[in-house]
Amino acid sequence: MANWAGCAVRREASVDSTNRAARRWAAQGAPHGAAVVALAQTAGRGRLGRHWESPAGAGLYLSLVLRPGPQSPVWPSLTFRAALAAADACQAACGLRPAIKWPNDLVLSGRKISGILLEREGDAAVCGIGINVRQRAGDFPPELRGRAGSLEALSGRSVSLDALERALLASLEARMDAPGWKADYTAQCVTLGRTVRVLAPDGAFDGFAEGLDDVGALLVRDEAGQVRRVLAGDVSVRSPEGYV
Ligand code: BTN
Repeated sequence: MANWAGCAVRREASVDSTNRAARRWAAQGAPHGAAVVALAQTAGRGRLGRHWESPAGAGLYLSLVLRPGPQSPVWPSLTFRAALAAADACQAACGLRPAIKWPNDLVLSGRKISGILLEREGDAAVCGIGINVRQRAGDFPPELRGRAGSLEALSGRSVSLDALERALLASLEARMDAPGWKADYTAQCVTLGRTVRVLAPDGAFDGFAEGLDDVGALLVRDEAGQVRRVLAGDVSVRSPEGYV
């Protein structure tokens, strides 16, 4: 069971975005470990300005306020620790362990089942996690069909949202407090050791994902043989053939 993660929880039937709600709360002094959980989001937000589909009761939509302290060395790894925690929780809930697509998408059977949006609010971070739980293939909008999946559809097991939330809070706490993240992350990251296409605002390039540096930047050897350091902020990484 979690100790500090979920020490205060705000539950909403519907909210614009749990990240926005958690940021508003953080700005008013929400403590380390405060969480916002919603049954539905009307304007769920993803990375790179994308939308996150959030129909009522179909997924877990949770945002956690983190206050690691200004000097904490944990800041650069928050997003990677969150990905490991979400994978732990999915495994606990459905018996299957998702892989991680750098930086923080969770993938089961080649389909994205979870995404993470980490944002800064003053001296706090807000870690927003969305996990698809009940959607059937036809529930996703056409542009996501074939790329998105849900825990229940892919595992064939029924998943309790409450149990998934408890598992996620416990794993977030454990992963945030753990001494390291890189060895576990490297072992679970499907992007490494593959040819990737990096889509950045200033252009795209193909290369081979050789590894990660100590802050989690992806080290990609491009076709000219030069190693380029790719930061998660504004890039999308995929295989030249498709999503994973
Ligand atoms: C992504 O893969 O693009 C990240 C998706 C993050 C979605 C979650 S759902 C809970 C929290 N609230 C939001 O508005 N976004 C995150």
